[in-house]
Amino acid sequence: MAAANVRSSNSRFAAAKTFQRKPTPYSIAIYIIFLFTFSFFIFIFYSKHLLEQDEMIKNPLSEYSPSLQLVDEHLWGAPTQYGLHPCVKPTTKYKASEGWDRYITVKSNGGLNQMRTGIADMVAVAYILNATLVIPQLDKRSFWQDSSSFSDVFDEEHFITTLNGDIKIVKELPKELESVPRARKHFSSWAGMSYYEEMKQMWKEYQVIHVAKSDSRLANNDLPIDIQRLRCRALYYALQFSPPITSFGEKLVERLRSRAERYIALHLRYEKDMLSFTGCTYGLTDVESEELKIMREKTSHWKMKNINSTEQRLGGFCPLTPMEVGIFLQALGYSNTTLIYIAAGEIYGGNTRLSELKSYFPNIVTKESLTTEVELKTFGNHASQTAALDYIISVESDVFVPSHSGNMARTVEGHRRFLNHRKTITPDRKGLVEVFDKLESGQLKEGQSLSNLVIQLHKKRQGAPRKRGGPPPGIKGRARFRTEESFYENPYPECICGSKLAL
Ligand SMILES: *[C@@H]1O[C@H](CO)[C@@H](O)[C@H](O)[C@H]1NC(C)=O
Ligand SMILES: *[C@@H]1O[C@H](CO)[C@@H](O)[C@H](O)[C@H]1NC(C)=O
Ligand SMILES: *[C@@H]1O[C@H](CO)[C@@H](O)[C@H](O)[C@H]1NC(C)=O
Repeated sequence: MAAANVRSSNSRFAAAKTFQRKPTPYSIAIYIIFLFTFSFFIFIFYSKHLLEQDEMIKNPLSEYSPSLQLVDEHLWGAPTQYGLHPCVKPTTKYKASEGWDRYITVKSNGGLNQMRTGIADMVAVAYILNATLVIPQLDKRSFWQDSSSFSDVFDEEHFITTLNGDIKIVKELPKELESVPRARKHFSSWAGMSYYEEMKQMWKEYQVIHVAKSDSRLANNDLPIDIQRLRCRALYYALQFSPPITSFGEKLVERLRSRAERYIALHLRYEKDMLSFTGCTYGLTDVESEELKIMREKTSHWKMKNINSTEQRLGGFCPLTPMEVGIFLQALGYSNTTLIYIAAGEIYGGNTRLSELKSYFPNIVTKESLTTEVELKTFGNHASQTAALDYIISVESDVFVPSHSGNMARTVEGHRRFLNHRKTITPDRKGLVEVFDKLESGQLKEGQSLSNLVIQLHKKRQGAPRKRGGPPPGIKGRARFRTEESFYENPYPECICGSKLAL
């Protein structure tokens, strides 16, 4: 190929005689050595970058005394990409599913993000089962007490048309099938391909399968790449929010950006249900602790009733308090003028507790302060719709910080990883509790040494590219599926690909 090119360009480069020789083994060897050297330098360049990144995060303020701009970049900039990018295209052997006269109906359960990821899983399940998917019913009975239908929350037409190369989706079950007996099925959680291949047997007896629960019905790992990419196409492209939610969400992002160039979205999961469920009463009054305990006892599907709050907290299982978030973000180096959007429902303890965070970061914005009463009324009575607004603002933020793990935190983090690894800072709650307790006992003071400690704890928790983790070591049997990192928390490697140079 190279030789042919040289020859055919003879006439154009007649003067440059030296280039017209046939390649000798010697020149080929030189060429190869050159290529090796070149790639070696590229490698060095990238790994140097990597080291710099780590060093800088360790100590952005002292020692290196970098320019203000560099500090800024480490607080606000996305982690280094190494040429990674989203990839959701199916492989060449992929075909749309055929199974037009079989149907699955789905009851989606849980809060907004549990439903979203569950619906994406159901798209994949319908594909594996060769079935037509009927637009899922949303949960109306969960904690969210929300009467919204699918088309109130999602763009139904877009969902149907975006996936028409994958599965057929219809708005309703055909009339003639409404009265036929349906198989009612609780699919096994975190199931793999062989489970669903077996489920195909049901088509011998039934034409309609009703799926009673949609959350976590599909394993995180060991599925064919085309199934994994289908999940990503479903969640990141097909399942858009409805046009009114999307446009209002974008408007709110614009409003935030008009107040400051950049903002942090803080998922402050300091809500009554979470505190009651986790049994975390640190910093609360006795009256408040009692209220949470009663709520827990009354909620029949929460299995844990007697919880030792101290042990929960030391284990890192409690959401950070508003005050702890303030100390944490200040220690990371964010200035007290930073704009912080509170992506959450009602904060337990209300403004009193929120003011503890405000004493560190006065520039706090809530949904209520960002919108007019009239605007909020449109969405306000629907928990899943206000959660959708929080989702949009969180994905679009410069930095996302969840104060607790959960479906929202995981799904937003995964989406941000997918969108070229936007920065997500995941607090090391166990490590931080030790730091906070040292502060309380006077062993440590707020300032540079606290800052160094907190920065050190979080240098590898900024959402930088890494492959999804399997189960923690030593965990066997079914528990391993539950303890694996969620597919939607980190869709790398299946839906995030590297260029040849990527490490
Ligand atoms: C299921 O769909 C695939 C195409 O995705 C097709 O090759 C296969 O024959 C279908 N199987 C059944 C049982 O309909
Ligand atoms: C809770 O756990 C802590 C630490 O293990 C212990 O000191 C405390 O006595 C426990 N409290 C109760 C009420 O059991
Ligand atoms: C913010 O920090 C600056 C110093 O960096 C300080 O002078 C100022 O008083 C602080 N503002 C508030 C409201 O804490």
